[in-house]
Amino acid sequence: MLEKMGDFFDARIDRYEEHQLTCIESAQEFYPFTASCLPQIKDTHILDLGCGTGLELDYYFEMVPSAKITGIDLAPGMLDELRHKFPDKLLNLVLGSYFDVPFDENTYDASVSVESLHHFTQEEKIPLYIKLRKALKRGGYFILTDYFALSDEEERLYRAELLRLKKEQNIADDVFYHYDTPLTVEHEKEALLYAGFSSVAVLKSWGATHSLKAIR
Ligand SMILES: C[S@@+](CC[C@H](N)C(=O)[O-])C[C@H]1O[C@@H](n2cnc3c(N)ncnc32)[C@H](O)[C@@H]1O
Repeated sequence: MLEKMGDFFDARIDRYEEHQLTCIESAQEFYPFTASCLPQIKDTHILDLGCGTGLELDYYFEMVPSAKITGIDLAPGMLDELRHKFPDKLLNLVLGSYFDVPFDENTYDASVSVESLHHFTQEEKIPLYIKLRKALKRGGYFILTDYFALSDEEERLYRAELLRLKKEQNIADDVFYHYDTPLTVEHEKEALLYAGFSSVAVLKSWGATHSLKAIR
């Protein structure tokens, strides 16, 4: 049975971090790597899309303790956990979908998203990426660490299976359910460039997981 996105993560909160770090290949490497790609300067302001309990922030706060984070997530339990982990940090946590929450323009030094955006299509991502580009300051950038489809065929199969399950379970199209539908890296790059980012590069790869950097 498909589960609503926020409910899916909240229902697994007790084991969430252990699962991420032990069951996802190379997680012990890509979380610290992602954090190391963010600005290493005091008081920097970062926008985290799908922050969850903030595994990437565990590493980032060690590097930049004074960082100010705006984190957006659909799952209230994940945000509560993040708040409890870092009671003394500058966290502005927003409960909602990053597709709907308005972003302040020219505000963030960088943005990050880890293991969250592999549920959405190019059509859904392009308006989000346009909004994100405008939210970044001049010289700002977006670090996206996620897993990707290995081929166009695999991308199509994931999407077709989600649509089949939604139809079978009579689920409306405008509600987010948890089912992984990663794009290929090429299609992700296309969406970012179409949204106006000036360049997109793959910084590092671990199997199907890649860290991309998109410069405003
Ligand atoms: C696998 S977790 C990753 C959390 C964290 N970034 C990490 O790597 O530990 C994915 C998170 O993305 C959130 N998410 C998925 N779709 C979202 C959306 N449209 N808006 C906001 N958050 C979303 C989920 O609620 C979940 O907390």
